[in-house]
Amino acid sequence: MSDEIVLTEKEKLREELLGAVQAVKGYVLNNQSLSAKVEWEKPSESDKATKFHPVNKEEALGEVERAMKNCKLCELGKTRKNLVFGQGNPCAKIVFVGEAPGADEDEQGLPFVGRAGQLLTDIIVKGMKIKREDVYICNILKCRPPGNRNPQPEEISKCEPFLKKQLQIISPVIICALGTFAAKTLLKTDLPITALRGRFHAYEGIKLMPTYHPAYLLRNPSAKKPVWEDIQMIMKEISVRD
Ligand code: URA
Repeated sequence: MSDEIVLTEKEKLREELLGAVQAVKGYVLNNQSLSAKVEWEKPSESDKATKFHPVNKEEALGEVERAMKNCKLCELGKTRKNLVFGQGNPCAKIVFVGEAPGADEDEQGLPFVGRAGQLLTDIIVKGMKIKREDVYICNILKCRPPGNRNPQPEEISKCEPFLKKQLQIISPVIICALGTFAAKTLLKTDLPITALRGRFHAYEGIKLMPTYHPAYLLRNPSAKKPVWEDIQMIMKEISVRD
């Protein structure tokens, strides 16, 4: 065996061990943060029967969208062309949450309509065999950061309450967090997506699966395999709850 191969195996082992340590750390931190959250208002039984009854979910989402239509809570309100609230079935069993609109999304006011969006659509339609209209798709930020720069903490904290409300109204069976920003924001963790993906976490009592962002898949096609594994876990969970 050459030195080079021994080194590669060592590196692999080190990566695996690091991943395992991060996974355990993530599990502990995640459980801690879940028990520490107190601000979530659980929908009351009467809310569920009225406000969040399927026929009223669309109306409730429309109200949130109208409330933020002219939002100027952060600087992105000055540079956006269109606010990208979200799209899909208000009664969806699965909600995909991405990072922030890009140029195409900003132009059209719709989430995931560019190249990464096409790949997400393929995952949903060709992989999961469901219609894009049957899921709900939105982002952590509703406005495009100029030049697609990373979302800033201030922007996330201003925008997050609207997302929370959206998710509370839809109350899906599963949330799929696409990429680092979505996963870290929703799970309140600093762990990397590599340590978070591949298992369910909990977000306000809803199962959440983090996976790689479709834009990352465009640059790293080999990551399609782990994403497919994550998606299969989601499909299995949804079929169990059917
Ligand atoms: N990337 C995202 O995170 N969201 C979109 O809507 C489009 C690209």
